Amino acid sequence: KKRRFQTMVDNVIRHPFKIDEEKRQVHKKHKSMVLWFCGLSGSGKSTIANSLEEKLYELKVHTFALDGDNTRLGINKDLDFTDAGRKENIRRVSEIAKLFADSGIVVLCSFISPFEADRQMAREIVGDDRFFEIFVDTPLEVCEQRDVKGLYKKARSGELKNFTGIDSPFERPQNPELHINTEGKSIDQSVEEILEVVRREIALS
Ligand code: PPS
Repeated sequence: KKRRFQTMVDNVIRHPFKIDEEKRQVHKKHKSMVLWFCGLSGSGKSTIANSLEEKLYELKVHTFALDGDNTRLGINKDLDFTDAGRKENIRRVSEIAKLFADSGIVVLCSFISPFEADRQMAREIVGDDRFFEIFVDTPLEVCEQRDVKGLYKKARSGELKNFTGIDSPFERPQNPELHINTEGKSIDQSVEEILEVVRREIALS
């Protein structure tokens, strides 16, 4: 029977991560940290985080990845994409990231997190000393051109409301720890750039 109403997760597609629980059982020889990837939908946040996690895994770093699609299918399935829904989304995932960081893990968080105030809240929840903001800067035109999930098309046609970059704002981070311009770069190049910095950040003195 056809559903009469669109639910909030209709446009959220599960993102697969390659490092599973079994693989994460490694000895901890590094600092814990929250790597906070923000950027437009389709900017490459989760793809870069996924690939970075594989590299960190090879280096025996204990990691865990959280991302918008996955948490919005679970703990945050009651939240929508209004400003208030996004704020509560960021608040909850920051609290979760904090718990993982407390347990000694390097957490890779991929959330659009379009509002400066909400990113600031995340930083405060996690703790400034272990919060590392990475702006995955891919122009809207490029994200829209890719349109991997067909969501930009839906947003342009008006079928999907409150879509970031179309009818909901994205406030560009002013002072991220790392600003990655992805244009003209491969995923591997972006990952290497981040890895170099992160290795130093998580190194035990
Ligand atoms: S936010 O703004 O930080 O609360 O968003 P986030 O939790 O990262 O979720 C973004 C993913 O949800 C899908 N989606 C939307 N994004 C933006 N606006 C609207 N209206 C929307 N509806 C569904 C989309 O697949 C996002 O995934 P990414 O990985 O960012 O492309």
